[in-house]
Amino acid sequence: MSTYELIMQRRTIRQFKQQPLEDELLERCVNAARVAPSAANLQPLEYIVVADPEAVEQVFPHTAWAGYLPDWKPQPGEQPVAYIFILINRERCPQGGDMDVGIAAENITLTALEEGVGSCMIGSLDRVALTGLLGVPEHCEISLAIALGYPAQEPVMEEMTGDSVKYYLDRDGKLHVPKRPLDQVLHWNRY
Ligand SMILES: Cc1cc2nc3c(=O)[nH]c(=O)nc-3n(C[C@H](O)[C@H](O)[C@H](O)COP(=O)(O)O)c2cc1C
Repeated sequence: MSTYELIMQRRTIRQFKQQPLEDELLERCVNAARVAPSAANLQPLEYIVVADPEAVEQVFPHTAWAGYLPDWKPQPGEQPVAYIFILINRERCPQGGDMDVGIAAENITLTALEEGVGSCMIGSLDRVALTGLLGVPEHCEISLAIALGYPAQEPVMEEMTGDSVKYYLDRDGKLHVPKRPLDQVLHWNRY
């Protein structure tokens, strides 16, 4: 599959099969993040992979899911089987670094997807609790988590027709994700 096809096919996955992921795949994801573009090539990012089932279970309560779906979260039996946390080392980058995080996150996501593994970036985190749980040192900051696992859902992307950016579940429980049409966001030569 071409990179473009992979990008178009990728959807955020929030329900996962309870099949463990190979350490090699998780390492490959972090390696893809490691070589991502980095502002001033500072490379301030570090990663914590959580794949031990007990540790994975401890992380879940500190994550928040699908803000547009009231009272919805992955149920036992469909929760992630691994997480990759992206940390910013503040000794290497005293401020900023968010763009590096975004690029690294997409590299992780696409590397996983190439192997059929789905993911959800999670910015809504209890960082205080997770800092303690994961032993994150003072000079590092948890920026983003990526929840991972083989997909147990097949969300569909659709062209946004009205004003709402909210993803929603249809009657069959299928997740629909509206995207603004190309002609509303692309400007050639001037705005
Ligand atoms: C920086 C960032 C933070 C996100 N945080 C969360 C989150 O805390 N919980 C969640 O369920 N989804 C989260 N998402 C996933 C978005 O909701 C999702 O990307 C968006 O709805 C579009 O769906 P798509 O990824 O399938 O295109 C986050 C995405 C990004 C890029």
